[in-house]
Amino acid sequence: MVIYTDKQLLQSFLIGEKEKGKQLGFVPTMGALHRGHLSLVERGLSENDLVVVSIFVNPTQFDNQQDLDKYPRIHKQDQKLLETLKGELVLFLPEAANLYGDSIEARRFTYDGLEHQMEGAHRKGHFDGVGTILTLLFEVVKPDCAYFGEKDFQQLQIVRKLVEKHNIPVEIIGCPIVREANGLAMSSRNRRLNKKEFDEASFIYKILTEVRSRFSSESIAVLKKFVEEQFLQHELLKLEYFEIANEKTLIPAKRKRKHNTYRAFIAVHCGSVRLIDNIALC
Ligand code: PAJ
Repeated sequence: MVIYTDKQLLQSFLIGEKEKGKQLGFVPTMGALHRGHLSLVERGLSENDLVVVSIFVNPTQFDNQQDLDKYPRIHKQDQKLLETLKGELVLFLPEAANLYGDSIEARRFTYDGLEHQMEGAHRKGHFDGVGTILTLLFEVVKPDCAYFGEKDFQQLQIVRKLVEKHNIPVEIIGCPIVREANGLAMSSRNRRLNKKEFDEASFIYKILTEVRSRFSSESIAVLKKFVEEQFLQHELLKLEYFEIANEKTLIPAKRKRKHNTYRAFIAVHCGSVRLIDNIALC
């Protein structure tokens, strides 16, 4: 595995590889890699000649300084994990100044309203930060395909909108959520959970699967009330939001309409750790 920390050096390496006719996949991450991230990299390796994985904890997408400070940074372990994969991999580990230049600030982005829902409403400026860093990274890497997890389903839809609106020539590929054995969606933040919190956090997926199984027979209002009550009774988990939304527009639905597809979205606090998850409803 080749490692680059400088964007100019990475760019000239990649230009050479492209000239050899190689198809390039890209997996942007913030590190503290787990099997969810690896599933994206493996998919990328199976569909491309070469995959670039970036690890960069992007300051402009955090609305909470404590969350940014506590974000796990374990590059050496990440590197070891990536080295277990077979295929041509490049690891990009940039410094903020190398990517952003002098001003580490988010630009403003609009995504036809997708940014106003759920994570956008609860984490101010978050998707401006995501748009800013991905625009910079796409500019450096110029991938043919880029892989994103459905774990952050709103982000995935926003990235699709970003590349469409800004004519960025990359195919965005969504990949399924990878879960722990107890159902909890894998996340770098799970490292901050103690054993009890980790066990209790499996309740989130339990509730989501319950909603999925009741979705065809019960109204959205009843299901929302059910979820809210379940969390009110929970001693450790605090519900931040639960929404059932149209999968395309991400607008929370009041009632089901034919030919629309829906997804349930949830954000929960488990001690000091904020967790998000979602599930397709049919
Ligand atoms: P990060 O949280 O590190 O996630 C990197 C990618 O891994 C995202 O596309 C995310 O959806 C995916 N991912 C995380 N957990 C997953 C799981 N359990 N199953 C499947 N995929 C999973 O998302 C970000 O970083 C940042 O916002 C980034 C896009 C890198 C921009 O800074």
